Amino acid sequence: MNSGLTLISVRGTTRIVGVMGYPVKHSASPAMHNAAFATLGMDWAYVPFEVAPENISAALAGIRALNLAGVNVTVPLKELIPPFMDELTDRARLLGSVNTVIHREGRLIGDSTDGPGFIAALAYEGLILKPGDKVVVLGAGGSSRAVVRALLEAGSNIVIANRNEERAEALAAELAPGTSGKIAVVSLTESVLRNALTDAVLLVNTTSVGMHPKPEEMPPVPVDALHVGLFVSDLIYNPYETRLLFLARSRGCRFQNGIEMLVRQGAIAFERWTDVKPPADVMRNAVQSYLQGRSAD
Ligand code: ATR
Repeated sequence: MNSGLTLISVRGTTRIVGVMGYPVKHSASPAMHNAAFATLGMDWAYVPFEVAPENISAALAGIRALNLAGVNVTVPLKELIPPFMDELTDRARLLGSVNTVIHREGRLIGDSTDGPGFIAALAYEGLILKPGDKVVVLGAGGSSRAVVRALLEAGSNIVIANRNEERAEALAAELAPGTSGKIAVVSLTESVLRNALTDAVLLVNTTSVGMHPKPEEMPPVPVDALHVGLFVSDLIYNPYETRLLFLARSRGCRFQNGIEMLVRQGAIAFERWTDVKPPADVMRNAVQSYLQGRSAD
């Protein structure tokens, strides 16, 4: 049996949503959303669309022409989509990135559910950030943007550590103005991170360090800096437990991999398209089975 797959029937009345990306073959989103549709008995289906960047405009016109209810957008298209939207939510406009397109009567609305998905994932583990809480974010790429923006909305006191410090400075200069949060930029080194983590409540790894196929690697976080009051979030979910999370667990920290953020950003998109409350437990189980099936490939 192919784990993670759900049997759905497609009829003349079926509403279609999907994911556009390049590549898109390994996306867990079809398994996640189709399991939700099937469980709720909804006449909806979610399909993958492999869209090369040069075909974005035609693909988006296809949403209208084919009357799709909407799409998710993934790497490398998220930052290319905003100019093609009829409307952007404030969040998508501020980020310059769209991961969810909602089609309403010929109009395409671009939203970004990654940041709220990240905050909802932490809340699922019982971590509710208070204004002024110190958060150390590793990385300054696309995932970091969404995370940092969400942390600014929560009023966090943010420290970004990135290999390329100029990239982190640019991110801070772009996102911080007009918010109540604070951002400092530091270098990605053991001694600096040890110091920064002392009074931090949350450490987030948004870099790809430790991801398959190099699970033996980890960001330069000193093990002794992983104190019990620190929650460690690694956005990576392949491997299921990165070296950073293994060490966090062994040091008694609370921790989370990237699956819950994937589930929560998907659940928010699901609700935007359907106006139906998403079954997060079903979606999580579907993602987990899909990923287990994939690692056995
Ligand atoms: P994503 O959309 O997943 O965030 P990205 O935009 O390519 O992907 O960003 C990747 C992040 O991982 C960046 O912060 C990158 O650091 P640089 O800005 O210095 O390139 C970080 N990263 C990737 N490989 C790394 C490595 N070997 N060591 C440290 N940081 C690394």
